[in-house]
Amino acid sequence: MSKGCLILGAGSLGRFWAASLAPGVANFVPRPESMLSGQCEYLLQTFQGSSVTVSVPWQPLPAPYTPSALLVTTKAMHALPALTRIAASLPDATPIVLFQNGMGSQQAVASMFPERPILAATTTEAANRPQPDVVVHAGRGVTWIGGLNATGKQALTPVVELLSRSHLQIRAATDITSGLWQKLVINAGINPFTALLDCPNGQLRDQTFFLRHIDAVCEELAQLMNHEGIPADAKNLRVDIETVAQATASNTSSMRADVQMGRPTEIDFINGYVARQSAALNLPAPVNRMLTERVHSITNTQQRG
Ligand SMILES: NC(=O)c1ccc[n+]([C@@H]2O[C@H](COP(=O)([O-])OP(=O)(O)OC[C@H]3O[C@@H](n4cnc5c(N)ncnc54)[C@H](OP(=O)(O)O)[C@@H]3O)[C@@H](O)[C@H]2O)c1
Repeated sequence: MSKGCLILGAGSLGRFWAASLAPGVANFVPRPESMLSGQCEYLLQTFQGSSVTVSVPWQPLPAPYTPSALLVTTKAMHALPALTRIAASLPDATPIVLFQNGMGSQQAVASMFPERPILAATTTEAANRPQPDVVVHAGRGVTWIGGLNATGKQALTPVVELLSRSHLQIRAATDITSGLWQKLVINAGINPFTALLDCPNGQLRDQTFFLRHIDAVCEELAQLMNHEGIPADAKNLRVDIETVAQATASNTSSMRADVQMGRPTEIDFINGYVARQSAALNLPAPVNRMLTERVHSITNTQQRG
C-alpha cells in the first residue's frame, strides 16, 4: 500500500482521523469545485486536554500516487453524492471506508459501486468542532471495520493495518452489518428524543415523552432486525439504549447539536430508515415514523424561521 490515505469530508470526524494517522499519511479531498489547495490547518484538542496544531494537505483528484484507502467522513446524506462526483478520479482498487452513522447510505454506496472494495466502520470515538479551526476529541472508544462486499472483505486486513497505525483502537469485524445495527439501535433510541426534548443524553430517563415511546421504538426495531436476520429482543435493546444514555449522561447527541445549529440531521438514516424499511416489508413502525416526522418538522421550522 502507498502511504497516502485520502479523507473525503474534512469535518469533525475527518479532521480527527487525519490528526490520528501518522504525520504525512492523510490528505483531504476537496470538493471538485472548491479549488482548495495547500494545507488545511487546525487545532486538535486531545482527549487529555492538550492542544496540537495539525496540518493536512488538500489533495485534488486524481492523486499523484495510489491511495491506500479513501475514508468517507461526510454526513450520511452526502456520502453517495460526494463519492459519485469523485469516483472517476479514484483508482478502482482503492478501498472505500464508510464512517456514516445510521443505515441506508452504506448500502446505497455498495450498490452504486459493486466492483469497488467497500467497507463500513462503526466507531464510539467522538469528535466535535466548536469553531471552524478547532476539533475536540470528546470521547474515546473503539472503531470496528468490516467489508460490505466481497472485494471489501478482501481489503479488510490492509485497511485495518493502515488505520491501526493511529493511536486508536481498531478491530476487524467479520459481520459489520450487525455492528451497524447495534449503533443504529443506540442512535434511534437517543438521538431523536434528545433533539426533540433539547436535553443531554442523561436526562432522557426523566422525560415523559421518552418513557411513553421508548418501548415502542425498541419493539419496532426488534421486529425489523429479526426480520433481517439480526436476533434482537426489545427489552434488551431498551437496556442497551438506557445504559449508553447514562454512560454519556452529559453529552449532547449529534442530532441535538445539528438541530441547535440549524443543520440538517441524519434522521432519515436512523428512525427514518427503520420506518421506510418496515413499511417496505409491511411491518408497522408508527413511532419511528412519528419521531422522523417530528424531527423534520422542527428542522423545517428552523430553516423557514
Ligand atoms: N463526529 C463524530 O464524533 C462521529 C462519531 C461517529 C460517527 N460519526 C458519523 O460520521 C459522519 C460525519 O460526521 P461529522 O460529525 O464529522 O460531520 P461534519 O462535521 O458535518 O463533517 C462532514 C464534512 O463533510 C463535508 N462534505 C460534505 N459533502 C462533501 C463533498 N461533496 N466533498 C467533500 N466534503 C464534503 C462537509 O463539508 P462542509 O462543512 O463544507 O459542509 C463537512 O466538513 C456522520 O455520518 C456521523 O454520524 C461521527
